[in-house]
Amino acid sequence: MCGITGYLGYKQAAPILLEGLKKLEYRGYDSAGIATLENHQINIKKGVGAISKIDAKLQFSKLHGTIGIGHTRWATHGKVNQINAHPHLTQSKNLIIVHNGIIENFEELKNKLNSVNLISDTDSEIALYYFENKLNKGLTIKEAIKEFLKEVKGTLAILFLNTQTNEIYAIKRDSPLALGIGTNEIFLGSDIYAFSKFTHKAIFFEDNEFAIISNKGFRFYNQNGLEIIKKITKFNWVKEEKKNKNFEHYMLKEIYEEPKCIERLSISLNSDQKNKIQNLKNLILNSKKILFVAAGTSYHASLYATYLLTRLGFDARAIIASEFSNIGLVDKETLIIAVSQSGETMDVLDAIKPVKNSCYSLVSIVNVPHSSIERLCFLNINILAGQEIAVASTKTYSNELYLFLKLSQELGMKINLEKIFDNVKELIENNSSQIKKVAQLLKNKKDIYIIGKGSGYAVAREISLKLKEVSYIHAEGMMSGELKHGTLALIENKTPVIILISEKHDPILSNLKEVESRNAQAILISPYYGDFKIPEGKETFALYASILGFLLTYEIAKLKNLPIDKPRNLAKVVTVK
Ligand code: G6P
Repeated sequence: MCGITGYLGYKQAAPILLEGLKKLEYRGYDSAGIATLENHQINIKKGVGAISKIDAKLQFSKLHGTIGIGHTRWATHGKVNQINAHPHLTQSKNLIIVHNGIIENFEELKNKLNSVNLISDTDSEIALYYFENKLNKGLTIKEAIKEFLKEVKGTLAILFLNTQTNEIYAIKRDSPLALGIGTNEIFLGSDIYAFSKFTHKAIFFEDNEFAIISNKGFRFYNQNGLEIIKKITKFNWVKEEKKNKNFEHYMLKEIYEEPKCIERLSISLNSDQKNKIQNLKNLILNSKKILFVAAGTSYHASLYATYLLTRLGFDARAIIASEFSNIGLVDKETLIIAVSQSGETMDVLDAIKPVKNSCYSLVSIVNVPHSSIERLCFLNINILAGQEIAVASTKTYSNELYLFLKLSQELGMKINLEKIFDNVKELIENNSSQIKKVAQLLKNKKDIYIIGKGSGYAVAREISLKLKEVSYIHAEGMMSGELKHGTLALIENKTPVIILISEKHDPILSNLKEVESRNAQAILISPYYGDFKIPEGKETFALYASILGFLLTYEIAKLKNLPIDKPRNLAKVVTVK
């Protein structure tokens, strides 16, 4: 993944780049670095760890110069260490690179660069020398980038800083890249968060486009080197307050924001996004088959959507994006709905790009406006949860669920959504002591099983994901009916099994008996059984139960003193395959 930033203007670049990197840290947080240029003097600082930690040690703001590039890394090639951290500089000191993506043919390119002494183990450094080689052959910048794009395989958002001409070359293929326009200053970033503090005007790069940025301004080109005129987008972003002392972690802050976020979405679905939900409803009514495509938490939200739509009599399936080409059969009457918090997940993009023209319609449900997935689809619904910082998705997942509830209501399902914001608020407030008690019970467990039926299955999958990513506990979320077909063999004395019971006479109660007779430690999440306080309502149960699951995983992680907002090895936005 990784996040990249760039600046060219009249202010000191380093503080602006640092601000951008902090906003992009959700894309990777192994290591970070900044390079600036002042009268051709190159200044680079980079280090390992979270940006604020590196900054406290290295003091990025001491790098002088009004032009620069920055990077926050999620390692793909080469270990996490200072040498592999970006930016990378050539030995001639003429060119510096920051890169987000993967150069797939790096071995082949490396073989072509016989006499180069590479310092790092990264594919990005090879790309840097490969490009310099083109310039050394006397090609113009445009020619060099054109050839570079032709020969380099893989995904890339690259910024090259030319230390001789004071220019930045920005190139994009598959990984996201945006250019922000200020007054006599230009910003670059993996997304608009990187510069939204400084400007609300942006241009989004499409695949195989590049821009040359200098103190004269910027120019965009297509892969053939022909100049193109790009649309300037004015964007508004729902600003969220900073994490304050009431919340030790963003994850908790974001769970507490849920009632407000759901309310915001609800208002929008009844006003500015009303037509969109009607259009989506009509698309569903007119299509033969509905395929959801998503990854991670958004996939679990999609599973819930298929449950609702199936109950309404529609042929709906959710497919994990990375397997879409293997198991997703698309024809002219298929409606595809891409669900993604970030709107940038590479697996989702890879799934929908090839089928864009062979299906009935392509719809996106995303949180980040103007994201790549949104730009690829014909109809877009924004879930309006505001920026989510914690790697684990909570408020965005709940808003996705709310959207599906609302859609089902529009399609004729009888659901009472009137009190939902108040219910969520009370749910969060009324269960804290029970959550703390259960967290104590579970914190030292090695394995946890979560079983659900109907909408509870989607919740079981989601809670198990959270237990793995946030609490570092192996967890399996499964259909309750499957328990007896194998997994029951693993249930021993005190094995924890979380059971999601949405109805008073839920058939899952027989599975409860099965685990109880094997002396499992059964934990019930239900409006009718156990000690959690949950509002009644079969359809809304999934929303309430998952919020309890989020709070529970948060408490366990806190007891274990884990890095809740930035779990090891993960990143919020996954822009690699
Ligand atoms: C990553 C994140 C998950 C997220 C998944 C899908 O794996 O760590 O929390 O659910 O990506 O992200 P998306 O932005 O497409 O919803």
